[in-house]
Amino acid sequence: MTRIAVIGGDGIGPEVTAEARKVLDVALPGYEATEYDLGASRYHATGETLPDSVLDELDGHDAILLGAVGDPSVPPGVLERGLLLRLRFAFDQYVNLRPSRLWPGTSGPLADVKPGEIDFVVVREGVEGLYAGAGGSLHKGSSAEIATEESLNTRYGTERVIRDAFERASRRDRRHVTCVHKANVLVHAGDLWRRTFAEVAADYPDVDTDYQHVDAAAMFLVNRPQSFDVIVTDNLFGDILTDIAAAVTGGIGLAASGCVNPDGAHPSMFEPVHGSAPDIAGQGVADPIAAILSVSLLLENLGHNEAATAVGTAVGDELSGRTPGLPLSTSDIGDRVATRVSDIL
Ligand code: NAI
Ligand code: MG
Repeated sequence: MTRIAVIGGDGIGPEVTAEARKVLDVALPGYEATEYDLGASRYHATGETLPDSVLDELDGHDAILLGAVGDPSVPPGVLERGLLLRLRFAFDQYVNLRPSRLWPGTSGPLADVKPGEIDFVVVREGVEGLYAGAGGSLHKGSSAEIATEESLNTRYGTERVIRDAFERASRRDRRHVTCVHKANVLVHAGDLWRRTFAEVAADYPDVDTDYQHVDAAAMFLVNRPQSFDVIVTDNLFGDILTDIAAAVTGGIGLAASGCVNPDGAHPSMFEPVHGSAPDIAGQGVADPIAAILSVSLLLENLGHNEAATAVGTAVGDELSGRTPGLPLSTSDIGDRVATRVSDIL
């Protein structure tokens, strides 16, 4: 039986996760779900972010479905580093997968881009770079304060994520990978990335390649997002570029992601790109589509391709088939997509 760990988290996290569960119930009947109470309330009650015993339990699951963590009542970084990043690192989720599509029935802010024209995926390195936690500070609070934050890049880590991007590209229609870095200034890490990219590319003669500096890529994501197929990049660049990608494809409420351990040694984790949105929490207005699309990624990762496709199709039908002006709550949207999935399957 498939065992899914569910971490609703904070703010709108539990609201959108409940809707994702409705869809999962229909798409993967009979799975076993275990809810984990992690996030701000657990931290306030016990001081814990992610106890070792819970980490061990999570490791016994086939996948993790996560809502979002973070709350204004908790100092910045405590939950993000102590829970979210700890999970990504402990479970070696080195592929941070972020697909971007401009769905039929939706509109983005770009006047000359039509639905269906944007369809790319960002493969962001997930466990190295500037997020590796290498740094420290000295003389804190004084005028002599020093703070460092180092970017760690290994040949091993760079090669495996680039290889994953090529594998994905070789299964897609356009078969194109763009490597994004800042090799003109970050000459050490950039050189490692570019050399590794060229060497891996030699193993995939059917896949076209190019390289862009991250600042140029940020511009091209806005003025010609149609040109991208697969983008592979480091942790920080990928974090920033995928928010731009979400913005040009109709907003953060639609953007799904997977923190994937492709080796299957530990569970992969699926979550919306957005955070806990404390400004709209508890109002029933959060869009659950990003969380629902994360379920589609989860199903694909576990090899349930038919169910994964059904969820994607149901979301597409829902977005293109809505009556304009009809107010829909978070749970209305979950109900409607779940019904569509059950009609398809
Ligand atoms: P956010 O993504 O939570 O919200 C940004 C804006 O987008 C807000 O105006 C919010 O109302 C809106 N929004 C987000 N998701 C939405 C949805 N599904 N439907 C409709 N509107 C939506 O980012 P913010 O405000 O920077 O962060 C809030 C908290 O979330 C912070 O504590 C942050 O650290 C945390 N966070 C957690 C993440 C995670 O758990 N993976 C990712 C990003 C932020
Ligand atoms: Mg981010």
